[in-house]
Amino acid sequence: MRQLLFWGLILFLTFFETSAKSEISPQAKLGRELFYDPSFGGTIDSNKASGMSCATCHADFDEKEEPDGQIRTGHSIIGVRDRGKSQWAKVTSDMFERAAGGAGFCYQRFLQRIPERKIDPSAIPEAQAEALMAYFDYMSVGKKSPEVKLQGISKDASKIAADRILKINGKAKNGWKFYARACANCHAKPKKGGIGPQMVKSRPPANLQKRLHKIASYVRAGGYTMPAMGKEKLSDQALADILAFISSLNKRQ
Ligand code: HEC
Ligand code: HEC
Repeated sequence: MRQLLFWGLILFLTFFETSAKSEISPQAKLGRELFYDPSFGGTIDSNKASGMSCATCHADFDEKEEPDGQIRTGHSIIGVRDRGKSQWAKVTSDMFERAAGGAGFCYQRFLQRIPERKIDPSAIPEAQAEALMAYFDYMSVGKKSPEVKLQGISKDASKIAADRILKINGKAKNGWKFYARACANCHAKPKKGGIGPQMVKSRPPANLQKRLHKIASYVRAGGYTMPAMGKEKLSDQALADILAFISSLNKRQ
């Protein structure tokens, strides 16, 4: 009986502690809602919206500690404040806070497809920027930021990378799994578009090798609103597997 009481107490304390931890300020709560909302609290014109939310490209948890199998183009938002500066050249250090640690750039570039030269990272509404920062802080308590680095390489370098990737023997079966983890968020199914266009058209390409080469280099260099994925995210072998998968679908038509 005494043992039962003891374990009961432990259980109670554990429960008490976790529930205390999960207390979230109204501001951070708003930040969380915005993070998952493709309309960003309705601040985005529905005609301009890309359909992406912050969560399409970023994790709000430590991906190394708690991997969920997704391969995202952006890094986790853990520790944003501690980074102190942004990878985006347009986000100067004096506007770091106002642009929610760089999120203001993404808000324009990715959620609204605004061309890079026209981007003003401080155009994100101030209250919303503050809410995002509060959410990042809330999620980051006791955690360290991952190492953050832009993944894209130049167009020329991406062509050389694609030459190399096309020589690797890919496995279509693995390719489907990598496709699902790294591409499906935006290119829902290979034969059906989503946020991004359809990868496999009903008519097979005239030159399949050329098509595969374009896909490989596009992934490495990035596109207009599609961010690049480097080797750190997707190895050459994984990308070769994706190409084998896409090419197997093209052949079956
Ligand atoms: C299409 C994908 C995509 C979307 C959507 C997106 N981001 Fe990003 N974001 C990136 C990439 C790529 C980077 C640069 C590399 C990195 O920091 O992960 C980045 C950078 C950042 C950074 C850090 C900047 C730095 O250099 O350290 C923050 C903070 C951020 N994004 C937050 C957000 C928030 C909040 C949203 C939603 C409003 C958002 N992002 C939407 C892809 C995206
Ligand atoms: C965050 C969303 C996102 C992710 C993830 C993503 N794409 Fe894209 N992709 C797009 C968008 C949007 C376009 C439309 C053109 C642009 O904005 O760059 C695009 C365009 C492309 C194109 C050029 C159009 C064409 O058909 O030739 C290729 C190739 C491509 N994506 C391949 C991939 C592959 C392969 C993956 C996975 C490894 C991937 N993408 C992951 C959003 C994404």
